[in-house]
Amino acid sequence: MNKHSMTRRQFMGAASAGTLAAIGSRTMPAFGGLGTSAGKLAIQGGTPVRARPWPNWPVWDKAAEEPVLSILRSGNWYRGQGKTVTQFEEAYAKLLGVKRCVAMCNGTNSLLTALRMLDIGVGDEVIVSPYTFIATYNVVLESCALPVFADTDPETFQINPDKIEERITENTRAILPVHILGIPANMDRITEIAKKHNLKVIEDACQAWLAQWRGKCCGTIGDLGCFSFQNSKHLPAGEGGAVVGNDEELMDRVHSYHNCGRPYGSMPKTSGYPISGNNRRMTEYQAAILLNQMKRIEADTELRWANGQYLTSKIKDIPGIVPHRLYEGVTRAVYHLYPFRYLKEHFNNVPREKFMAALSAEGIPCSGGYGPQYNDGLMEATLKSKNFQRAFPKARLDRYREELHYPDNDRLCQEAVWISQNMLLAGKQDMDDIANAIAKIYENRDKLA
Ligand SMILES: Cc1ncc(COP(=O)(O)O)c(C=O)c1O
Repeated sequence: MNKHSMTRRQFMGAASAGTLAAIGSRTMPAFGGLGTSAGKLAIQGGTPVRARPWPNWPVWDKAAEEPVLSILRSGNWYRGQGKTVTQFEEAYAKLLGVKRCVAMCNGTNSLLTALRMLDIGVGDEVIVSPYTFIATYNVVLESCALPVFADTDPETFQINPDKIEERITENTRAILPVHILGIPANMDRITEIAKKHNLKVIEDACQAWLAQWRGKCCGTIGDLGCFSFQNSKHLPAGEGGAVVGNDEELMDRVHSYHNCGRPYGSMPKTSGYPISGNNRRMTEYQAAILLNQMKRIEADTELRWANGQYLTSKIKDIPGIVPHRLYEGVTRAVYHLYPFRYLKEHFNNVPREKFMAALSAEGIPCSGGYGPQYNDGLMEATLKSKNFQRAFPKARLDRYREELHYPDNDRLCQEAVWISQNMLLAGKQDMDDIANAIAKIYENRDKLA
């Protein structure tokens, strides 16, 4: 497979140690104080900047084994027969500084549950960022609602708060900000707009564990927040998710819904099934893995944050390399993916794909990230589906189709370059390797064109 047609998850697997074949000794390019000798590009047969592998992901310690094995041996794998999921829920809520957490089977179903419990469904509109993992589109479509995209702010990679209000109609029920790449969206502006228009806020924090906006954890600011614990994530359990929130009654309903609609907490027990629910439960052994993983997340998060800021300081002066900008309210980004923009006009018009291939050859795996997914087949297939044809008047769907143009996002999809989170768990010298490799390519841009 071509490296640049990899999915995000394949890319993150490939960015781990052992899969990198880069060999050779370090070469230091002469650029902006980054090094002394540019050397021949590795893609053209030169010595790569970096020979050593990057940190592996996921990582675990011996202490993870006993709790998982004892759950296995007990045969009590389901949360109804154990206490581990509940323990995890309490620990995760405490970690985030939020009243309640309900553990789920994955992030997608956490988002679906949040939408459902906030009564967002057939015929509604939800304001979403187009620059996100496809699950964010899917959950709105699956709810038989329209994801109405507000264009991206290419400088921050987040939903552009200036583009939200113009997208609100009488059918809008919620804003679904995504803290994409682990970088907080502008929650001051989003909360203010939501209040003004009486909209719910569901935070997609599936890439943003412990990211902070003005000292508050992402996912705890809106009405509900959703997380993913899939394998590549900073808190991984293979699969898994969570919904968090501060409204006790709402969270009782979230719990009930994820457990087939059985009554929970403040809900009346007069009926066996007061609401129609679903089964979105986490297993006991997933929770045991997560409790073990939680021991390292704070230290890992601080390291990624420090390395991310250091990397920004090292690459910001290389012509044509534009590091992401953080909003003033960001008190911590967690960099599930560290992004910058590549402006090819500064690189003698070398296409981004060629730049990324050259960077990978220098021992720095990277990816181009999301494409303009609103042009993908899923949109038209859904608009043509029986449910959508019944739920929406034809004129509304026609108008929706016409609006599927997001020039800022289109540009970002062509310019973005991502570095994976596991690489930010290395040392400062390793961040220097990334900066040196980029500078080396810049210096040799004429030979690449
Ligand atoms: C932004 C975003 N939203 C939602 C999800 C869905 O989470 P899951 O894969 O656990 O279903 C993901 C997972 O990658 C994600 O990155």
